[in-house]
Amino acid sequence: MTISITTEFIRKTLYPIEVIDTPDILKQYAHDTLSCYDTNAAAILFPENTEQVQNIVQFAKKHHLKLIPSGGRTGMTGGATAIQHELIISMDKMNHILSINKTERLITCQPGVILQTLHEYVELHRLFYPITLAAKGSCQIGGTIATNAGGVHVVKYGNTRQWVAGLKIITGNGDYLDLNSRGLMKNNTGYALHELIIGSEGTLGIITEVTLRLTQLPKKPMTLLLSHDSLHHVMTCFNTTKQSITLLAFEFFDQSSLNQVMQHQTLQQPFQNEAPFYTLIEWEATPDSEELVFQLLEKGLSEGWVSDGVFSQNETQREQFWQYREHISEALRQDQPYKYDLSIPIASIPDFYEQVMPLFQQDSMRLQSAWFGHIGDGNIHLNVFQSTPNMQTEFYAKCEKLNQTLFAYVKKYGGSISAEHGIGLLKKPYLSFSRSASEVKLMQQIKTIFDPYHLLNPGKIFDMPSDDHHQNSAV
Ligand code: MLT
Ligand code: ZN
Repeated sequence: MTISITTEFIRKTLYPIEVIDTPDILKQYAHDTLSCYDTNAAAILFPENTEQVQNIVQFAKKHHLKLIPSGGRTGMTGGATAIQHELIISMDKMNHILSINKTERLITCQPGVILQTLHEYVELHRLFYPITLAAKGSCQIGGTIATNAGGVHVVKYGNTRQWVAGLKIITGNGDYLDLNSRGLMKNNTGYALHELIIGSEGTLGIITEVTLRLTQLPKKPMTLLLSHDSLHHVMTCFNTTKQSITLLAFEFFDQSSLNQVMQHQTLQQPFQNEAPFYTLIEWEATPDSEELVFQLLEKGLSEGWVSDGVFSQNETQREQFWQYREHISEALRQDQPYKYDLSIPIASIPDFYEQVMPLFQQDSMRLQSAWFGHIGDGNIHLNVFQSTPNMQTEFYAKCEKLNQTLFAYVKKYGGSISAEHGIGLLKKPYLSFSRSASEVKLMQQIKTIFDPYHLLNPGKIFDMPSDDHHQNSAV
């Protein structure tokens, strides 16, 4: 039997958890940075601790309500978007750092801590949390774990997965699980269940406490900005620098991305001549760094795989270089692009580019593109847009039509349709290009074990065969 649950009833039953259902705030919390869905969240709940999250899940279970765990909402695939009248569980009030253990290099915090706040806190203790991304000022730790965020340092430090030592979660059944939350380095006692939660996009459990590994602060970085006349030359540059330097970052962008970011941030063209591609390369400075840079530049320029180059002489200059890369996504947003987040085996990127680029240029499409991303780990953020943003629905339909061919190329090259942004709602129709039917079936079975009533983040990543897609009865 389904009864209609009012906000008043939720508020009264779950007191003292704050519950908000004012239309403007509902709208704000009902989606991530992707705004192409008609959203309809029923209410937002603001728990403050694990016990309150457990109470919410048990309440939802009793009344057949659907839930969406929600962090900083900086995701790009609709992974935290409400389209089934779900209750949103915001982690905004679960934003405390609980402890730091310098001996074991561990930090324990609630999931709502902002990534940049965590960075600043650990740096005060002369330690380092290496996951960093453009949205660091607003994304929350819980969200970065739920999506296994990557960012600009993956080439040296790996993805979020490598840094999660343990978690506390509430499953969709309302059970509390302590998954190596003490952060033991060795704990071979069967399945590492916390690994399943990382990258599960809030579909298996709600993260209520996090233990992360930390490392030593890197030495002052040295940054190089280069231009290149082809992607093949970007590859030669990658292979050459990697031989003499331990890279911290190896990023790239094309002239189209640069044009957008220069206009948006009012920046100057970095070099006298435009070039098809640019790279931003960073590593820990050593006493012989400058010498190395000169050698590298000389070699690159004489062999032709570098067209122009400049290196940072101080921190201000370094920050200026990063502006060209870090603000691209924000600059592109005004054109409401269709976003791809592809993983392509690095050596195949130039070939992939040559195959895919003509798809946008054909007469029936006439679309513009911006290519940028973390090329050093094979992650390409291809953004597609129209020269004059209008008729958004037709534009999206065009892109969706292209997807079949584009994702077939991704598959052909052994890539993945999502590198670091996850599947959410946006990429769900294309999951079969990267995961087999048997894998999806297994994931659905795992989901049912953790979340037997399919309450958590319904419809994200894949649909559940048994779900009838009934909306929440919360009003
Ligand atoms: C980035 O690397 O800038 C982000 O992942 C954002 C994006 O892809 O738009
Ligand atoms: Zn990225």
